[in-house]
Amino acid sequence: MGLTSDGWVARRVALWVITLMAWLALGCSREADKQGTTKAQRGTADSPWVIGMSQCNLGEPWRVQMNEDIETGAAKHPDLKVIFKDAQNDSLRQRAQVGELVAQGIDLLIISPKETAPLTKPVAEAYDKGIPVIVLDRRVSGDRYSVFIGADNEAIGREAGRWAAQSLGGKGKIVELKGLMTSSPGQDRHNGFRAGLALDQHPDLQVVFEADMQWLEPKARKEMESALAAHDQIDLVYAHNDPGAHGAYLAAKQAGRKGIKLIGIDALPHEGVHYVKQGLLDATFAYPTGGAEAIATALKLLGGNKIEREIVLGTRIYTQANVDQGGQAID
Ligand code: FRU
Repeated sequence: MGLTSDGWVARRVALWVITLMAWLALGCSREADKQGTTKAQRGTADSPWVIGMSQCNLGEPWRVQMNEDIETGAAKHPDLKVIFKDAQNDSLRQRAQVGELVAQGIDLLIISPKETAPLTKPVAEAYDKGIPVIVLDRRVSGDRYSVFIGADNEAIGREAGRWAAQSLGGKGKIVELKGLMTSSPGQDRHNGFRAGLALDQHPDLQVVFEADMQWLEPKARKEMESALAAHDQIDLVYAHNDPGAHGAYLAAKQAGRKGIKLIGIDALPHEGVHYVKQGLLDATFAYPTGGAEAIATALKLLGGNKIEREIVLGTRIYTQANVDQGGQAID
């Protein structure tokens, strides 16, 4: 079948247009390569997605574990690269570091914020720029982030309160060493504990001393020294984390005070669980870092998938009675 001359011209024009478009596309991608790979091309081993991880501090073993869990999770995915920042327990530094990560052009932000109020705005700003944000363990205010991942601190506090009331037989004097009360786990572990203690139903239970030890073992030890000096009788200490409970243990040991039950939270194998095995602590509650879940969630978000707004992680209790069997899950 012969071509008419009109048909021939149309085919030539179409060919030119295609050639021109291909040439332009090649030019654009070369331009992109000169400036660094464009977002649309990321997500390969040659050009991985870049995740910024803003960690509030690396002072406690639990946070070192969180970073390790993130690193281990990401290492299985050559299409991911993680840049870690450590704010060294300083909210202002953490704010600045979030800004630096965003300016660097990250594809996704993971943040475990030191405090709620100062970190809410930088998180919201990153999110408003279209960067997916995963908030881990401590909360920010409002809803300008993609997903929150963490255990239910109120439920953990409530279990700790119930365990305390029960193990004291409904009678005794209690010290509460609180985590930083400007961070959400501190508030939730406190409120939950008081609900679990149910002081209205236990008139012989009394919280005789409470102080904010800001999650820090040395501060917990100092506060416990004050509590011991002020109270001849202390039957139980509830510390919002295992470093705090260990600080209380050291203070009581130094003061020669025996028979005080100690409860902590975190239950790392080499920290809280080990303390329970050694008999230094009576109970600790697992507080998973969420690092592995954060990487799994990041992959979903980067793949453009819809995910739930809140991922709640479970807990376990470890006591002298069950620690050798690996503790017991709490529903
Ligand atoms: C570490 C830590 C943990 C605690 C968590 C609460 O910085 O204090 O011990 O469970 O933070 O956010």
